Amino acid sequence: MSNALRFDDKVVIVTGAGGGLGRQYALMFGARGARVVVNDLGGGAHGGGKSSAAADKVVDEIRAMSGEAVANYDSVEEGARIVQAALDNFGTVDIVINNAGILRDASFLKMSMDDWELIYRVHLKGSMSVTHAAWPIMREKGYGRIIMTTSAAGIYGNFGQANYSAAKLGLLGLAKTLAVEGGSKNVLVNTIAPIAASRLTETVLPAEILEGLKPEYVSPLVGWLCHESCKENGGLFEVGAGIVNKLRWQRSKGVGFRLSAPITPENIADKWEQIGDFTDAEHPTTVADSMVAAMDNINNPKLGGNQFLDLDKAKASKPVVIENAYDERDLSLYALGVGVGAQPLDSRELQYLYERGEHFYALPTYGVIPALNGFMKMLMDGKELPGLGGNVLDRVLHGEQYTEIKRPLPSHATLRHEVKLRTAYDKGDNAIGIIDVHTFDASGDELAYNEITFFLRGCGGWGGDRGPNLELNVPPAREPDAVVEEKIGDNQGLIYRLSGDWNPLHIDPEFARNFGFDKPILHGLCTYGYVGRHVVQSFLDNDPRRFKSIKVRFAKSVYPGETLVTHMWKESETRIVIETRVKERNEIVIKNAAVELYEQIPVAKPKATSKTPVTVAAEEQPMGPTSVDIFNAIGTYLAANPAEVTSANTVFQFVLKNPDAAWTVDAKVGAVKQGAADKPDVTLTISDEQFVGMCIGGEDAQKLFFAGKLKITGNMMAASKLEFLKKMDPKLVEAEVAKRLGGGAGTPAAAAANPAWAVPV
Ligand code: NAI
Repeated sequence: MSNALRFDDKVVIVTGAGGGLGRQYALMFGARGARVVVNDLGGGAHGGGKSSAAADKVVDEIRAMSGEAVANYDSVEEGARIVQAALDNFGTVDIVINNAGILRDASFLKMSMDDWELIYRVHLKGSMSVTHAAWPIMREKGYGRIIMTTSAAGIYGNFGQANYSAAKLGLLGLAKTLAVEGGSKNVLVNTIAPIAASRLTETVLPAEILEGLKPEYVSPLVGWLCHESCKENGGLFEVGAGIVNKLRWQRSKGVGFRLSAPITPENIADKWEQIGDFTDAEHPTTVADSMVAAMDNINNPKLGGNQFLDLDKAKASKPVVIENAYDERDLSLYALGVGVGAQPLDSRELQYLYERGEHFYALPTYGVIPALNGFMKMLMDGKELPGLGGNVLDRVLHGEQYTEIKRPLPSHATLRHEVKLRTAYDKGDNAIGIIDVHTFDASGDELAYNEITFFLRGCGGWGGDRGPNLELNVPPAREPDAVVEEKIGDNQGLIYRLSGDWNPLHIDPEFARNFGFDKPILHGLCTYGYVGRHVVQSFLDNDPRRFKSIKVRFAKSVYPGETLVTHMWKESETRIVIETRVKERNEIVIKNAAVELYEQIPVAKPKATSKTPVTVAAEEQPMGPTSVDIFNAIGTYLAANPAEVTSANTVFQFVLKNPDAAWTVDAKVGAVKQGAADKPDVTLTISDEQFVGMCIGGEDAQKLFFAGKLKITGNMMAASKLEFLKKMDPKLVEAEVAKRLGGGAGTPAAAAANPAWAVPV
């Protein structure tokens, strides 16, 4: 037995060690060098009587094999006296095996209060009483191993054992919490549910089964769990007949309901199967683990949806990527489509049509075309936009459009679009959806951004957010600063559609009639192009390069051949509010509209080449506080405030992620160093960004903890001692930032360093 697990310096208390399992544990520990307190009341299996004989006999057995043992005859309800016996005889206690037990079985109907009370007192209160007396001794010396004895009856329930089951499972709860409280002091607590032949089972099990259930098949697990080399803590094991299993909690993925709407019993009934579906089950091991889903539902509320829209799916999914390209021909065709070219000799028109002219510009409103074409093609190809049901296509109307050009569109480009259903609003019967499309050029620079707002007939009613009810871009009550009147060509829709919108509604008279229109209507985005041009010619002297963005609401349909009258109000040097009517019907067709202008023509970012290595220039240093600044400031603070150091008396280790770093705040000696701690009392693991946010950005430590973003290991209670940092002067962090940026005055001030350290335990 060269690698034998010995207990030579250890003092062990085994309760109920006069027979059955307890005796076996006592013999095992005695044979392996421990000094054993053999406790047993010596009563009957149902709790009556009292005798010293049982404990004495086991003490004799241990001594007979040259072991050391003393007897104790107190009831486990008198835990302090049992622990005192250990102190009186052996000077300390290292291991407690809470094993004593009796039965008072009766069906719940017939169970008396005495039956209940006695079982509770011996099992739950008794185990607590002995453990409670040993606890401070173990914590003080930084060593302890404790076993609680539960039962299958407690874990699974068993007829006639309501009292016993309740007390036994209570022991598991006790053990779990003691494991949390004792772990950092090397006081480890585990629970076993044994099955063994003893006087408690001999009347219920046949002889041949009892033979296979020797207590010797249980004691080895107890020996291992109590050895100093075993670090298991908070575990639950079934053991007997040569089988040893570990148990854990399992939790179904379940269902997350949206918190903004009432949750009804009917909702639960509807989702009952899903609630009980253990596919991809989780195994939470701590309260924090168990709270993650709930906290997530509070911090990131479910958005809901219906068969047409699934907002949670949309939110959780990455944008869909689409690629396409355009060239000079596409730009010219688009320009013709939105009414350019009626004056073929006018350079102000040719600049959109003649690719070899002095200037060749893209109309800014073209920024929507590749994005929308890509999106439509994606849908036609049967590709899904996450969150948008494939069944909505014939319910869609283009309601509003926003296009932003990051810089003047080049004459040709290869594009990558990232498309995502941003959100949807529930308007009762109908819904409004908003799709974001970010468009990048071949080098990855963003070239345009589009926000497509569409109206979905009959797709509302899921009880979701109704969305803002604002009237944006309302024209002021004064005469417009500019008015442009322009007749649309009778064949305009026929040209415009060649830019990619093939909807027959814009060309097929019969199709249009079936839709309730006298004749094919003009594309809304064709009118959009006209309106954009009207601004360029009125406020940009026909140079479109300072055009930043356009936002419109499509109020009514327009027919080819009608006359558009665009009224424009210059609200500032960079903002024009717009309203467009059809002259013949005097009806508003474009409203809540505005164009924004750049003050200067934006230019593309210079590209880094291999000859110009990218180095982080001083001016690219983060201007705000970094985690390094904060730790340096804490170091300065601790050095200047020794009183805080002595009162906290804790070594905090921070493990930062992304970028990875470790820091030690040693509030025992008052020093802060980069790197891991030798013996941290508590370790806090968090992303670098969230650490900074928590210290100076108002991020709440409690929320981060419950959301699983701040992990605390070791002594959880110690984490709350970081409270002392609340007293730290924010100027210390500001000073660190200033030092790093190499300046004194004039460096940006850090936000108030006022960390919310109160971490729940
Ligand atoms: P056992 O009856 O052979 O041993 C229990 C011992 O505890 C007895 O010697 C008894 O005198 C002593 N005891 C009872 N009340 C006491 C008190 N107030 N203070 C001090 N000592 C007291 O029973 P067994 O089977 O060895 O059970 C040991 C433990 O294992 C018990 O907690 C029992 O509930 C548990 N258990 C046993 C199972 C089995 O299959 N044997 C199954 C599940 C749990």
